[in-house]
Amino acid sequence: MYVCVCKAVSDKTIRQKVGEGLGSMRELKQCLGVGSQCGKCIQTAQQVLNQSIQDLYANNRIPCHLVEDRPAA
Ligand code: FES
Repeated sequence: MYVCVCKAVSDKTIRQKVGEGLGSMRELKQCLGVGSQCGKCIQTAQQVLNQSIQDLYANNRIPCHLVEDRPAA
């Protein structure tokens, strides 16, 4: 599903980039342009980002730069 229509960015692409190390909306915007035009996608993109990070934690595949931000168990 497209999350950002303006930049043709899908949820799959966001999940892939999170797996490669992106961990914030600012990074998604810089890397993919998400939210850089009309901005209507920002809330959904944030949800996909959060879910992707949670999935990585659940599977113990946490990108190194996110380790210090890991929520307490
Ligand atoms: S839908 Fe993402 S900037 Fe317009």
